Amino acid sequence: MQAARWKIVDLPKITDVRGNLTVIEGGANLPFDIARVYFIYDVPSGSTRAGHAHRRLRQLFIALSGSFRLSLEDGRQRESFTLKRPDSGILVEPGVWREIDDFSGGAVCLVLASLRYDESDYIRSYDDFVVYAAQQNAPG
Ligand code: TYD
Repeated sequence: MQAARWKIVDLPKITDVRGNLTVIEGGANLPFDIARVYFIYDVPSGSTRAGHAHRRLRQLFIALSGSFRLSLEDGRQRESFTLKRPDSGILVEPGVWREIDDFSGGAVCLVLASLRYDESDYIRSYDDFVVYAAQQNAPG
């Protein structure tokens, strides 16, 4: 049985009458050191983002504001999550095809990444991903 390639990560929420605070520390409540941060925002209604997989990259997705749907598949299973809370993220390991859609107005998708940007780490063709996934899921 191979390990799951994604999981929900509950983040601490330090509540305060002055406003809440959530903290993520690389290597502590996130199982990698953060090499890169990016965020997707001002997404027009009906847009789809991502549509690719990564060979080595690990990422944590969080809805900082608003909501969106993150759909994942690794050749063995598929799962979709509606992200809508800034104190919960989805950790995605390498070898997972991901699409992000159904953005609400004002949605901000924060992504913490384990590696710096590297186009050669992307698998951008779904057909190529199907071949890659079959290899990664092959026994042995
Ligand atoms: P892409 O990864 O395809 O966006 P998404 O998966 O979120 O839809 O990247 C879109 C463009 O932005 C592409 O030209 C590459 C560039 N880009 C960077 O230069 N650095 C980055 O860290 C990222 C994520 C993208």
